[in-house]
Amino acid sequence: MKNSRVYDCSIIELDKHHHEKGNITVIENRNTIPFETKRIYYLYDVPGGESRGGHAHKELSQLIVAVSGSFSVTLDDGVVKRTFLLNRPYQGLYIIPGIWRTLDDFSSGSVCLVLASHPYYEEDYIRDYNEFLSCKLTKKR
Ligand code: TYD
Repeated sequence: MKNSRVYDCSIIELDKHHHEKGNITVIENRNTIPFETKRIYYLYDVPGGESRGGHAHKELSQLIVAVSGSFSVTLDDGVVKRTFLLNRPYQGLYIIPGIWRTLDDFSSGSVCLVLASHPYYEEDYIRDYNEFLSCKLTKKR
């Protein structure tokens, strides 16, 4: 968690089975993504101008996919920030533990699918940015 960097987070290209009747993208535990999915949730009907996220996780890994529409995800390891525009249902943003993330600029009707490595534990969240910074910066990088 303390040593994790935004450069260790990346876009994973998901396979896309093209078909004239429509496309299919498949995500398989450990094959497509480097963790075992224990929970799936999705954000939708996000009002225009709204910001989501605004926290870090201690243990949780995630894959975030814009299965419909678009939004941006800003990752922050306490030193470096990187912003990704997600707008393809066959691309996923892999986020390791210990990264502050903020989701913005949701297009109308967008759906944000999240695959998570653990069940929901509120204790896994760091919701205070100063606490996050001190956690990252006081420990050896
Ligand atoms: P949160 O992860 O803080 O939202 P986001 O990062 O998308 O802005 O979740 C908001 C609330 O939803 C949280 O306080 C509790 C509830 N929640 C669950 O009960 N289970 C879950 O798996 C998630 C992701 C959220």
